Amino acid sequence: METAAFETDLSLFKYDNLEQLPPEYRDLEAAERTERIESALDELGDDVVILGHNYQRQEIVEHADFIGDSYQLSKEAAQSDADYVVFGGVTFMAESADIITDDDQSVILPSMEASCPMAGMAEALQVDAAWAELTAALDNDEEIIPITYMNSYADLKAFCAEQGGLVCTSSNAHKAFEYAFEKGDKVLFLPDKHLGENTAHRLGMADETVEWDPWDAEGTDAADAVENDIILWEGYCQVHERFREHHIESIREDYPDANVIVHPECRREVVEAADVAGSTSTICESVAEADPGETWAIGTEIHLTHHLQRWHPDVNVVPLCGEACMDCNAMRQIDPNYLAWVLEELVAGRERNVIEVAPEEKGLAQVAMDRMLEI
Ligand code: 13P
Ligand code: SF4
Repeated sequence: METAAFETDLSLFKYDNLEQLPPEYRDLEAAERTERIESALDELGDDVVILGHNYQRQEIVEHADFIGDSYQLSKEAAQSDADYVVFGGVTFMAESADIITDDDQSVILPSMEASCPMAGMAEALQVDAAWAELTAALDNDEEIIPITYMNSYADLKAFCAEQGGLVCTSSNAHKAFEYAFEKGDKVLFLPDKHLGENTAHRLGMADETVEWDPWDAEGTDAADAVENDIILWEGYCQVHERFREHHIESIREDYPDANVIVHPECRREVVEAADVAGSTSTICESVAEADPGETWAIGTEIHLTHHLQRWHPDVNVVPLCGEACMDCNAMRQIDPNYLAWVLEELVAGRERNVIEVAPEEKGLAQVAMDRMLEI
């Protein structure tokens, strides 16, 4: 079973949606689909590269030329000469690939429904309004630097560049904070409050954080917020918020020698109780380097846990919260039938679902990403 069954509020997610798909693709059988995908790939040859995020389902990663975390996949996109980069991931990842690929390369997202809810929690317009309040509350000689996690849309990345800020990933957030504190006095971190808080702890700045909730009119006001050095936007990932300390306690009871590894989008107390926290590539590397027979409990999206079980059968890989571990509904929108459709359309000379960042945002967003590459 690839998907855990449980009751939860998924209201922030979009739903499985094959509506955009021409009817003849909706009911493709697995064997026929695989054959058609492979034959389209043979025909397209070096013109196409397929990138698969670690959270993609097996039927997508089995066709991928590269599998990795969001940062690695952007780098693969930048290094590729292929005319078409087909991105098995979510919208913000495809946008990032479009920002750093050449203008004559097209980035294709098989389903336009694959939108990360956390990226949608910090809309550029909303951030702009908060920014006006926060900067007005600063002392004259103080400066605030915005940092946005890669999991954000291009317009927000552009906004950060304009205000002297940058992009970061889960593996270099601490370096982005250090860069920001060299340039300014305070940081506004968007959109993931947990990654922001975990990074503040790592830098010994746990007592200098405050949450900024743009949906709560009664919440912290700007004057109080800027008393703190790190202002955390109220965004989060539902997949990772689900993990709790008691899951770690019960894994340690069941497997006293277990190594617990979690993604830094998890709550602070979960990261604290784990043995290791890191990006999806850190999780993959840790299990790949494990000795046979070791137990690794994985606190991240369930498809990655299942991949690790398949890739490393000699390691005992277990999901940190058992049946309650979630799949990412946004990632799941990349149905393999969509992959068959976009590839066969390319063979027919038609580009479908091209992700194109507006030219006025592209240059600035690139600046924010380049600043990250330089730290
Ligand atoms: P990585 O950058 O670690 O691959 O994570 C992306 C993501 O969306 C985690 O939820
Ligand atoms: Fe977004 Fe969470 Fe899915 Fe990552 S796992 S893409 S943060 S919803």
